[in-house]
Amino acid sequence: MVKVNGNYLKLKAGYLFPEIGRRVKAFSSANPEAQLIRLGIGDVTEPLPQACRDAMKSAIDEMGTAEGFHGYGPEQGYAWLREAIARDDFQARGCEISAEEIFVSDGSKCDSSNILDILGSGNRIAVTDPVYPVYVDSNVMAGRTGESGDDGRYGGLTYLPISADNGFAAQIPSEPVDLIYLCYPNNPTGAVATKAQLKAWVDYARTNKALILFDAAYEAFIQDPDLPHSIYEIEGARDCAIEFRSFSKNAGFTGTRCALTVVPKGLMGKADDGSEVELWGLWNRRQSTKFNGVSYIIQRGAEAVYSDAGQQEVKALVNFYMENAAIIRRELSAAGIEVHGGEHAPYVWLKTPLGMDSWSFFDHLLQKANVVGTPGSGFGAAGEGYFRLSAFNSRRNVDEAMARIRNL
Ligand code: MLT
Repeated sequence: MVKVNGNYLKLKAGYLFPEIGRRVKAFSSANPEAQLIRLGIGDVTEPLPQACRDAMKSAIDEMGTAEGFHGYGPEQGYAWLREAIARDDFQARGCEISAEEIFVSDGSKCDSSNILDILGSGNRIAVTDPVYPVYVDSNVMAGRTGESGDDGRYGGLTYLPISADNGFAAQIPSEPVDLIYLCYPNNPTGAVATKAQLKAWVDYARTNKALILFDAAYEAFIQDPDLPHSIYEIEGARDCAIEFRSFSKNAGFTGTRCALTVVPKGLMGKADDGSEVELWGLWNRRQSTKFNGVSYIIQRGAEAVYSDAGQQEVKALVNFYMENAAIIRRELSAAGIEVHGGEHAPYVWLKTPLGMDSWSFFDHLLQKANVVGTPGSGFGAAGEGYFRLSAFNSRRNVDEAMARIRNL
């Protein structure tokens, strides 16, 4: 009989969001009249920008002509999109990133897992706790961890607790690590990192020859002009960091799928024989073999994000969701609940009231207010006693959810 990948058997439970979906489905089946409001998974709700839709429609028409038809595209993405990204997302902010170093893909979730293909086993890995579960689960699946303990933490990982006590800032580990996952603005806590904090990480990584995997999927939500949007705003980061970006949350591409990974040229790793190998070449090889690129139509839509009209529409979308976040923060605070995040990120991280644990509060909110959120403990042991509400929803639903919570 065929053998299975035993690493999957080490996974604690279902992936967090399907598990929430399962509980919500069970509740809905038992209570078909309940009008649920979903502030759980961070999925956008507002329509795609007109500029993106127009570009996608023209691309479809082009594909209907002999001259404009496109078959397989470059695995790394079309040059015109990579150039727009390099220019507007990086060079405009003073980051020395070229189009060649941008790899267009169908999602940051996939890329942040797939990157493990080019990294060896035996790396000591650091993650924050709480953390976006994909970083941990993909390492478990790839056999890069031990078994999970009673506290749900996996052997072999270095957990960096982030909580109100340390201002939700991951502290530099006391032991040397080789691979560090950082996500800023942070999912799930909504915290941000200053340039000084990122500089400390870059200095650490360069000193210890470690690699930072920097997830900047929520950078568009940063409101303070002094906060860094990219790790490459920090000097020396080209030598020690890979960055993930996405069109999902800023331009509403969760359903259309487009993202990018930046792998700087000259960023090195070590082979078994001790020689140094450029990661760019390995990622390029990996993508060329296992990926056939994002569709031409979607890449044209993503390119339109960089047009004047696209920029204005994206700004309006971000402002809309950030107003939702402000409403959530204000209403929860007025209800006496301790809130964090939601100022530079579309997530509000709250302390569960009355000492309830995260899943009890999930059930309480679901049953009594018919509001779905995400239990903090689903993001890690240090998330216990916290809860995440997403600002991605219509204004009407956010207002209604807050009214229901107020009346609890
Ligand atoms: C979340 O809710 O944490 C996000 O939707 C996850 C994701 O973008 O994959």
